[in-house]
Amino acid sequence: PKKPLLLSWFLFLLVLVLLVSCYILSSNSLSQWDSHPLQYYHRFLNQTRRVNLPPHRVHPKHRVKPTGMYETTERPTVPPTVAPTGARFHQAYPRNYHFIMDNQEVCETETPFLVLMVPVAPKNVAARDAIRQTWGKDSVVQGQVVLTLFMLGLSGGADVQEKLRQENLQRRDLIQSDFMDTYLNLTIKTMVIMDWLATRCRSAAYAMKVDSDMFLNIDNLVVMLQKPGIPKVDYLTGMLMWNRPVVRSKDSKWYVPEEMYPEPQYPTYTLG
Ligand SMILES: *[C@@H]1O[C@H](CO)[C@@H](O)[C@H](O)[C@H]1NC(C)=O
Repeated sequence: PKKPLLLSWFLFLLVLVLLVSCYILSSNSLSQWDSHPLQYYHRFLNQTRRVNLPPHRVHPKHRVKPTGMYETTERPTVPPTVAPTGARFHQAYPRNYHFIMDNQEVCETETPFLVLMVPVAPKNVAARDAIRQTWGKDSVVQGQVVLTLFMLGLSGGADVQEKLRQENLQRRDLIQSDFMDTYLNLTIKTMVIMDWLATRCRSAAYAMKVDSDMFLNIDNLVVMLQKPGIPKVDYLTGMLMWNRPVVRSKDSKWYVPEEMYPEPQYPTYTLG
């Protein structure tokens, strides 16, 4: 009479052990999937040699879309959208462009601790007004002078240009340069921002480039910049990106042809 009891105990334990190991295995792979999905694809499909940061470290706006993700070994079949190297880099040089509005007195009357430079499309009055009413509204933060300025290119329309003139007359916070304001020209906008800071606002202790669709916790930023140990010169900070692959999928917003940048990965940079 004891034998069947022993057997059923044995069977019960066996099933229990199996269930527990199944659970451990599945939860393990699930949590790894959560944090390193790309490495998983990499392992399974063996298609790319990317080392990606876990996606939760990347702002949703800048995440690579899954469609273009696994095509890196293919060469783009369309002709490049840019001219061969030399001309392109020459064109992007900031001194090829000139300020139409520069509000250069804003850094003469005051010595800002922090200048916030917001690249924004000329037409996007709504974004500028939202910033002026929220995180950009205070000129003194944590006892420090803070300046918020908007960086624009040309819109092409005379009506838009006249509205911009009026807007700047009222707010004195627009910086405009004479390049066409398009997505592919955002590199020019970035360089022109640095050009303006280097030529019109040398007294500023820090400057930040911040997109117009972002919420900036400016108090946190100023507190952070005043902490002991934060360098006062040669200091660049942001959300650090490293080993980021150059996107070679022509459908991607971030497509860059090999003619323009031959390396498979970008050097370490800060996002945005
Ligand atoms: C960038 O701006 C320059 C100068 O205005 C213009 O010639 C060029 O067409 C623009 N590039 C793009 C891609 O819009």
